[in-house]
Amino acid sequence: MESFEYWVPTRILFGKGAESKTAAEIQRLGARRVLIVSGGASARRSGLLDRIEEQLRQAGIVFETFEGTKPNPRLDHAREGVRRAIALGAELILAVGGGSVIDTAKGIAHGAANPNTDIWEFWTGRAPLEKSLPVGVVLTISAAGSETSDSSVLTDEASSQKRGLSSPLNRPVFAVMDPLLTLTLPVWQVKCGVVDIMMHTMDRYFNPIQDNQLTDAIAEALLRTVIRCGRAAVADPTDYAAMSELMWAGSLSHNGLTGLGGVKDFAPHQLGHELSARFDVSHGASLSTVWGSWADFCLPRDPARFARFGREVWGIREPDDGVAARAAIDATVHYFEEIGMPTCFSALGIGLQDEKQLAVMARAVTFDGSRKIGSFVVLGEEEILEIYRRCNH
Ligand code: NZQ
Ligand code: ZN
Repeated sequence: MESFEYWVPTRILFGKGAESKTAAEIQRLGARRVLIVSGGASARRSGLLDRIEEQLRQAGIVFETFEGTKPNPRLDHAREGVRRAIALGAELILAVGGGSVIDTAKGIAHGAANPNTDIWEFWTGRAPLEKSLPVGVVLTISAAGSETSDSSVLTDEASSQKRGLSSPLNRPVFAVMDPLLTLTLPVWQVKCGVVDIMMHTMDRYFNPIQDNQLTDAIAEALLRTVIRCGRAAVADPTDYAAMSELMWAGSLSHNGLTGLGGVKDFAPHQLGHELSARFDVSHGASLSTVWGSWADFCLPRDPARFARFGREVWGIREPDDGVAARAAIDATVHYFEEIGMPTCFSALGIGLQDEKQLAVMARAVTFDGSRKIGSFVVLGEEEILEIYRRCNH
């Protein structure tokens, strides 16, 4: 096991009706001026946003609501939010929505606390992030895990770059997690969430550290649960029991727990981000599209790891590692297909890409040759290009 530090300071308010505790939680933290951040329409349409606003009003909290965050949230929108937060004198940013809204709220919090620095400087690493405002969350979709994660992902449309920023300052101070709020989700978003939750653990599970027994067992239990409840939730997105399990799994899968003592890989995420940046596809769909090709490419380097994954997660009984490993990858890809997720470029709806475009994409993943990705198998431009070729059907 590798050394690690683990700090997840987010107070979690989980369960039916938890949304009613939002204003009290803000008061407990001593914040009196709040910028509420929300998405396109769903939270307003469901009545949630009106209820949260009313709670804050009743509690005497001064607030303004900043709506309009889009999926794959844009840098310029977050910059606009920074201006609003500064003008309001916000002491806390409250995200009411999913990963896109939460990541925008995190960006706004960083910008408002550092008014002399353009926030993209933090995402590109040109400026160190040393302070921020507190972010609270009312979660409406189980997927990204941003409600407890230490990361935030924004897209700069000008440069077509989708980038993540990891920092302890990205951990929200509280997260209201009421599974009832997810029962209005379109089934497509449920499917995307299932894939994303699985992938946050799989992108940690496939890593070079092999003697990590407890962490591996936690990861495997989480995956088995998400696979089972994912099936149930896709069949019936109003299945409260299944949606509750997914909500809790979404946080645990990306708050670090399922990879402690290992070395994060996250290559499939980097391959997927390039697809979202270029074609604006859903994050979960980008991941199901690349995972099988990534796994095929990596299989020869460590069949035993894929074999263990197959036996512990998929119940494969095959004693030969090579055969079990192949069966594990096939089972995962078939599961994505069974729940209606794409596993190649044509199913993703972006069409076949010519060789020149694939090369441009591979180059972009390396940030113009300045980095490699992954830890399980370290991937440079050539290897990334080969994986994209395998998705190109
Ligand atoms: O905008 P509205 O109208 O609210 O609709 C949203 C959006 O269209 C809808 N939705 C959310 N809750 C709903 C609902 N519709 C009906 N009922 C509800 N209760 O769902 C759509 C997707 O929302 P979004 O916030 O984009 O989903 P998700 O949570 O999957 O977030 C995806 C974003 O998070 C990033 C992704 O890259 C992507 O940009 N990620 C963030 C991470 C992090 N910060 O730790 C880690 C992840 O790996 C991921 O990269
Ligand atoms: Zn993800």
